[in-house]
Amino acid sequence: MKNGLEDVVAAETSLSDVDGEAGRLIIRGISLDRLVEHAAYEEVAALLLDGLLDRSVTAGDLKARLGRARMDVFTHVRALDATLLELPPVDAMRSLIARLPDGEDFDTALRLLAAPAVFLPAVLRLQRGETAVAPNPALSHSADILAMLNATLPTGEQASALDAYLVTICDHGLNASTFASRVIASTRAGLTSSVLAAISALKGPLHGGAPGPVLDMLDAVGGAAHARAWLGQALDRGERLMGFGHRVYRVRDPRADALKKALRPLIATGQVDQARIGLAEAVEQAALAILRERKPDRPLDVNVEFYTALLLDALKFPREAFTGVFAIGRTAGWIAHAREQALEGRLIRPRSIYVGPEPQAA
Ligand code: ACO
Repeated sequence: MKNGLEDVVAAETSLSDVDGEAGRLIIRGISLDRLVEHAAYEEVAALLLDGLLDRSVTAGDLKARLGRARMDVFTHVRALDATLLELPPVDAMRSLIARLPDGEDFDTALRLLAAPAVFLPAVLRLQRGETAVAPNPALSHSADILAMLNATLPTGEQASALDAYLVTICDHGLNASTFASRVIASTRAGLTSSVLAAISALKGPLHGGAPGPVLDMLDAVGGAAHARAWLGQALDRGERLMGFGHRVYRVRDPRADALKKALRPLIATGQVDQARIGLAEAVEQAALAILRERKPDRPLDVNVEFYTALLLDALKFPREAFTGVFAIGRTAGWIAHAREQALEGRLIRPRSIYVGPEPQAA
């Protein structure tokens, strides 16, 4: 038995490949750095879904229909009552998604791509006492998310940065949330059920819940001069450094570099908190050095969540919303994997080894 199913192969996929030794991510035959450089979110979502929904999916078609789907799901925002608004944003968002019909067709997929993008900004605005902003189907998915969040059009750099983020995290092999999505799909429960399970897996701090705590860590460190001492004390307490380490990567997570690059135009145009970036760089260097000293046998490097925190902070998302933004981008991957599993896979039903007591003789 492999604890945590480490290195166990549980599916064949043509969607993405994570090479943990080389630090390389391939999505449908294209390397991540090329994809982030050249493709918009709608193109990558179409690339992932094409051929899996009983029809061809083109970027142009997906963009037009996704805009309309955002308008359709916005009608569900009125169900956000006081009880839901007391929940963390990702939980409120998940509750609204649970109201959507289940199915395995293109319309269900479109609704699910649209839903987190519309619900998260609405939840955040209502939680701070503002009114929800309706989507604008003429905008790109990324620009519309920021417009719905801030009630104003984003700058070109902001829309591009969010787009680069959504592309970077759209799919990533058989991670915990994607596996959850495939397990549900293997029972033929439907795509809405798969996405709900995936969001529930994503929100844990060992998976997509890490970037908020990355900012908490930077706040607690306070200044570059304290980085080494603070990190050492955290490790002494047995804590994990958030934004470092990965189950598969033994080198730097390529998504961290993609996001670091995506931050550059925002830095160059003064649209970020420069002090925060400076502190983050100091913490990253100190963490890498101290992890090398303390865990010489386990290569631990920066992961996607470290730069996710900096990028989403620069885009003015509150830290408690970071996991929800992750869900907006990853939904395309979850749906594609769910469809691949439903089309090609069998019911997922592993076995366990019983180590409990035997029944007493009567
Ligand atoms: N800080 C300090 N030590 C660490 C860290 C870390 N971030 N990550 C792993 N280690 C240590 C463990 O303490 C363990 O040491 P030990 O053998 O002396 O006990 C060793 O490295 C191996 O750790 P495992 O838990 O076996 O590694 P696993 O593959 O299960 O964990 C994980 C991967 C969960 C990502 C881990 O590195 C971690 O907790 N990181 C911090 C949280 C984080 O950034 N999560 C986001 C991951 S990216 C994503 O999901 C999108």
